Amino acid sequence: MSILPAMLRPRRNRRTPAIRSLVRETTLSPADFILPLFLHKESADTPITSMPGVTRWSLESLVREAGEAHALGIPAIVLFPKIDEELKSPKAGECHNDDGLVPHAVRLLKAAHPTLCVITDVALDPYNSDGHDGLVHREPSGELNILNDETVEILCLQALCHARAGADIVAPSDMMDGRVAAIRDALDAEHFTDVSILSYTAKYASAFYGPFRGALDSSPKEGDKQTYQMDPGNIRESIREALLDEAEGADMLMVKPAGLYLDVISKVRETSTLPVAAYQVSGEYLMLKSAVAAGWLDERAAVLESLIAIKRAGASMILTYFARQAATWLSER
Ligand code: PBG
Repeated sequence: MSILPAMLRPRRNRRTPAIRSLVRETTLSPADFILPLFLHKESADTPITSMPGVTRWSLESLVREAGEAHALGIPAIVLFPKIDEELKSPKAGECHNDDGLVPHAVRLLKAAHPTLCVITDVALDPYNSDGHDGLVHREPSGELNILNDETVEILCLQALCHARAGADIVAPSDMMDGRVAAIRDALDAEHFTDVSILSYTAKYASAFYGPFRGALDSSPKEGDKQTYQMDPGNIRESIREALLDEAEGADMLMVKPAGLYLDVISKVRETSTLPVAAYQVSGEYLMLKSAVAAGWLDERAAVLESLIAIKRAGASMILTYFARQAATWLSER
């Protein structure tokens, strides 16, 4: 008699849809998604040419769109404003104007949909005439210096402005040092202890943000973002950023982009006990959309697979331009 067991057959666990559903380790739900929404102050909606299928909404349409997403089970949206050229300035003062576009939108959204979680982006690039996430100083040598501490002071004013309008979560995407602690202090000092911070912890200097910058006209006028966003070759540095953000009081950590950085998502998840978010960015969206448009990929299968991979890597929430569509597909299954 052989002491070896009978032949081991992993395929038994894949035999029927019912068994597969019992052994499935990761599942997707509309509750995992955060929908990024673009807005402008115009009264018409504008299709975004650099991102087919994505629209820049008027305030009225934004409120409707957010409500429809919420009704599909999507718990949260994040706002990205296109700011008029004449409101942009080197000090980006418009970013903390209580009568500005974002605070206005937040008030309307919270009034119309009280249970919707409203997240705002904290960074200067849509407001800054230089198109950088921080204040720009030109050195005598001609080199551009993105000022850290001076920027953090303005980010605090911006976060407070969003909190006053009723934002549930502020999400600093600027990658300045020390901004999480500074924003936490500023919020607490004004008694906004319930406003959360979703920190862009490991945000890489990625070519995959190109279509987004087209959507908002927010490309840097000069230079690139490599002195503040992370080097795509690095992962140990993401551990350092995660430990700092957790110590500084972040409530949630984000990795961005998502699909090309699954190892980073997994590492950040191991490093911290905080929930991890991942941002499937505009370039990732376009890669899928263009392959689908060419007839090369099946949209539903490819998109849901891209999302489950991000979740499997360790993300508890995914920012994705496919949120509405994916939520619809999931509810049809
Ligand atoms: C800027 C910001 C960017 C994105 C979100 N916030 C662009 C950048 O850092 O240049 C990119 C999102 C996307 O590509 O979908 N604060």
